[in-house]
Amino acid sequence: MKLRIGSLLFIAICFLVIGCESENIEEYFADAECPTDNVSFQADVRPILDSHCMACHNSLAQLGGVVLESYEDVLVYVENERLLGSIKHLPGFSPMPQIGTMLDDCSIGKIEAWIQSGAPDN
Ligand code: HEC
Repeated sequence: MKLRIGSLLFIAICFLVIGCESENIEEYFADAECPTDNVSFQADVRPILDSHCMACHNSLAQLGGVVLESYEDVLVYVENERLLGSIKHLPGFSPMPQIGTMLDDCSIGKIEAWIQSGAPDN
């Protein structure tokens, strides 16, 4: 009986270790595919906005009065938290993009990381 409990415990610990490791591996690959260190406004954030938002939020169309053309334009919506609220579909914000599907996790992750790093003009 003692032996059985011992081996059950052993198996349980194995699963625990494997479980933790595979989580780390997933995290590792997620980070390799979608690095969120030193996110750049010009190289990372700008292209996402250009392809998913600019049709409606350029200075001519400015749907909803929202312009996301220059860094300064975008900063307004960083500071009033509407940029993140709308792309993450948080309650109290209009979900964006208004037409089509939600941005992919990597794009949202990059924009969020850029905002958390102080939304630099880089
Ligand atoms: C098809 C047109 C269209 C697209 C594409 C679009 N928007 Fe909008 N957006 C609108 C309209 C219209 C409004 C104003 C009406 C509303 O708030 O629903 C708006 C409002 C907003 C607001 C204000 C939201 C609020 O709660 O006050 C933000 C921020 C915004 N858009 C950001 C974005 C971002 C970021 C993208 C790209 C990921 C995007 N939009 C894509 C049409 C669009």
